[in-house]
Amino acid sequence: MKAVFNQQTTVEQWDVDYYHPIAIKYYDWAVTDMLRIMDVPPGATVLDAGCGPGVHSIRVAKAGYQVQGIDISETMLNHAKHRIADSNLSDRVNLQPMDLTQLSFANHSFGYVFSWGVIIHIPAVEKALDELARIVKPGGKLALYLTNRDAFDHKIENMARFMLSKPLSPIVRSQLGDGYCYRMNHEDLWLWRFDGDSIVNYLAERGLRLYYRGIGELSEIQRRLDGFPRRLLLRLNNFAYRWRFPANIATTNLFVFEKK
Ligand SMILES: C[S@@+](CC[C@H](N)C(=O)[O-])C[C@H]1O[C@@H](n2cnc3c(N)ncnc32)[C@H](O)[C@@H]1O
Repeated sequence: MKAVFNQQTTVEQWDVDYYHPIAIKYYDWAVTDMLRIMDVPPGATVLDAGCGPGVHSIRVAKAGYQVQGIDISETMLNHAKHRIADSNLSDRVNLQPMDLTQLSFANHSFGYVFSWGVIIHIPAVEKALDELARIVKPGGKLALYLTNRDAFDHKIENMARFMLSKPLSPIVRSQLGDGYCYRMNHEDLWLWRFDGDSIVNYLAERGLRLYYRGIGELSEIQRRLDGFPRRLLLRLNNFAYRWRFPANIATTNLFVFEKK
């Protein structure tokens, strides 16, 4: 599963899929809101767990925080290193290779942790959640940006696939959600569509109570489109975010938890 994240083409493809100029506005708002909801004090250290090419580490560092970025992929970390240096933020961001299912940090190491679109790609998701819950300090916050199984997008996709007789069956149906395995750049890419309430219950059993849940991107169908239809959907995503459409219809949600 790790191989797909070490491919240069994966980084390039995700840049095209997710970081369209119209979407940049959304990410700027969403990361700023996340930091506000987490109530991170000025100058604090924030862990970006699964930082990928570092785009959100850069946003957090620009907001005045110190960032510890970790990722399993050396290719991603290499991109992050260069992008952070290009933004003149190398003194604010420290990068380290690490697997979320086996964190080398001591218990209660961080007051503020976020993980954006990462555990959705980890088959052993319980281990990653256990590890994240372990390293947050009592009174600290954990933010998770996750896919939502019940999203409108998924209902449309399931209906289209049913009509085309190409159903998409999950490999795993667990308490936490449905797990799928896709092919990307000739490698396997795992993807969970989570049941948000089950994630909330799972973390509650580990001492983290839900503090906030809100809409992320309304739809990801834009990735499969071009030109005007794509721009229209991206603008709709921004609109839905600004006007806080209900989280349960959106393809991604932000969850913020507080540790007792
Ligand atoms: C979709 S990208 C998101 C990257 C970044 N958070 C962002 O939003 O731009 C998923 C990232 O998770 C990382 N990842 C996947 N499995 C991981 C694991 N077990 N431990 C640490 N990072 C992992 C991948 O290398 C990749 O950089």
